[in-house]
Amino acid sequence: MTFTSENLGGHMAVAVGGIDLNRLPDPATQAALRDQLNHNLVLCIRGQQLAPPAFRDAMARFGTPMLRKQLASTEECAEVNIISSEDRDVLGDGKKLVNGASWHTDDSFMREPCSLTMLYGVVVPSRGGDTQFINMHAAYDALSPEMKARIDGLQVVHKYQSSRQTNRVSKRPEDEMKAMPEATHPLVRTHPETGRKALYLNANRMEQVVGLERAESDKLLDELIAHAIEPRFQYRHVWREGDIVIWDNRATMHKANADYPEGERRLMHRVIVAGDAPY
Ligand code: OGA
Ligand code: MN
Repeated sequence: MTFTSENLGGHMAVAVGGIDLNRLPDPATQAALRDQLNHNLVLCIRGQQLAPPAFRDAMARFGTPMLRKQLASTEECAEVNIISSEDRDVLGDGKKLVNGASWHTDDSFMREPCSLTMLYGVVVPSRGGDTQFINMHAAYDALSPEMKARIDGLQVVHKYQSSRQTNRVSKRPEDEMKAMPEATHPLVRTHPETGRKALYLNANRMEQVVGLERAESDKLLDELIAHAIEPRFQYRHVWREGDIVIWDNRATMHKANADYPEGERRLMHRVIVAGDAPY
């Protein structure tokens, strides 16, 4: 099987075409797709028309799909979650909750965060609703040698409800919260497949740098976040219907935008695959 590829963001993100995932790629094609993902961190597979089980099966070639019970799932397939503009206000304060509206990486509050997230644009608005990404390898590489030496080996506590968070997060049942102990992760992580280093930040989930006083920790985290979100490290994905966008949570942050016209629909199917404890 062959596919076409188009560089999207220069320093990250690639789109491939000429693939119909209703037929699973042969091993060589699958390896080539994985290679594109590892080098570009965001892989867009254009022009898909997939029922939920076929979406799950195609994504299972990239890892082990995991259940996310706090999100709605499709009827046909529990591993395929639904992210929709029709999502209800789950906090009860009358405002719509936009999942992922600030810079984040998925599930960093878990000991073994998902490695990849796959979003499939089933219905996309006429404009807006882009997803933005940051290349965290590039953000790390651009740090000064002094900063690299300073943060090398530091660990950070991540929590679902961090005292630093500024966003609104959906409430989860008490038993679920108890089953989500805080996780401690390196501030600089090594990509298990490419060996490259990346800053590992999650603005609303990081609580404190281990071994630093609160004020010093806050100052360091704020400085690193401000650096990482500079426009030069970003790519903005403008969705086309039928796009599957796969991103690597081990080396990117991302952000949703709820800026599409009122009354227009945005319906995404979502799969995440298992990852290892960051090191
Ligand atoms: C996610 C997410 C962004 C978007 O699914 O994890 O952050 O643009 N989505 O919907
Ligand atoms: Mn997300």
